[in-house]
Amino acid sequence: MDILLKIGDMWVRRRAAPDLIAVAAVEGLRPATVVTGASEGLGFALARRIAREGRAIVLLARTEEVLAEAGDDLQSAYPNATVIAEPLDVGQKDAPALLDALLARHGLYLDVLVNNAGIGIGGNFTDLAPEQLDELVETNVAAVTRLTRHYLPAMRARARGGIMNLASLAAFTPGPWQAPYFASKAFVLSLTAAIGGECAGEGVRVCAIACGPVETRIHRKMNASNTFYRALLPSASAERMARLAWRSYRMGRRVVVPGIVNSFIAWSARAMPYEILLPMVDWLMKPRARPVSGTRARRGALRLARSTGSRR
Ligand SMILES: NC(=O)c1ccc[n+]([C@@H]2O[C@H](COP(=O)([O-])OP(=O)(O)OC[C@H]3O[C@@H](n4cnc5c(N)ncnc54)[C@H](OP(=O)(O)O)[C@@H]3O)[C@@H](O)[C@H]2O)c1
Repeated sequence: MDILLKIGDMWVRRRAAPDLIAVAAVEGLRPATVVTGASEGLGFALARRIAREGRAIVLLARTEEVLAEAGDDLQSAYPNATVIAEPLDVGQKDAPALLDALLARHGLYLDVLVNNAGIGIGGNFTDLAPEQLDELVETNVAAVTRLTRHYLPAMRARARGGIMNLASLAAFTPGPWQAPYFASKAFVLSLTAAIGGECAGEGVRVCAIACGPVETRIHRKMNASNTFYRALLPSASAERMARLAWRSYRMGRRVVVPGIVNSFIAWSARAMPYEILLPMVDWLMKPRARPVSGTRARRGALRLARSTGSRR
């Protein structure tokens, strides 16, 4: 594995030319990894994976108590890491400035950014409240764009660091019943892949993770528990997904669809005409009045309930 990471590193740095002024500007500060949406689910699992390496890590989310608990858990599990947990709504326009101030207070600079915070809404588009739509666009689209734009120039100048953006398998198809969520993930995938191309070889990693279903509370929050996709599609644990995502990021990959089944689904969605694809996705995503029976869904719910790594 190490050899793959080394080859990946050489590939990422093949045209790297650090600007000495930019490097000097962060002298005396420690590099930090910032994970947005790190209080639970995939963000917490990613933070745990990164903290294991003894790095300085900043966890962000909105709900203070849950976040503080997550920070304490990680700090006691990995005493070599520096864990900072601070409430911040990344959807706010001034989130980058607030994050700059937070990092400066702790003698840190942002080296790696994991744009993981995301929300979903399920239902018929015309039934969704405009405020919910605004929140989704601010969190899933605007925050990712703003934070990437804010931190990427200095990373490129220093020729180090990187950005991991959480897209989804949802990025490969329009998604009836979760239309804004699917559209937001298509935006994240497209933006990240394109920017990754612009920075290729400069020493900065820019990576989109397009994972399939992961056992977290997001499905329940978006009212998707009683759907055929929950019953039929295999879903990974947050820990497994975090491990695959972090390894792929470190190898310098640009677009990652973890898992063979997910890769096949992504490939099929791209190859299929909308006339066939859309009715299939509609059937998979439509919330049903009665519980959808399925061993996968039951097993997944059990795993989530028992899981120690993925919070709640
Ligand atoms: N689970 C899946 O099946 C799956 C599949 C593909 C992609 N993804 C993507 O992976 C990411 C994580 O998903 P998840 O399943 O782990 O979700 P989750 O369990 O619902 O966790 C979401 C996290 O984001 C935080 N958050 C939400 N809005 C925020 C905001 N405005 N500012 C700061 N933090 C915010 C939440 O905390 P607060 O609410 O306290 O802020 C929480 O910590 C998302 O981008 C999602 O789209 C998930």
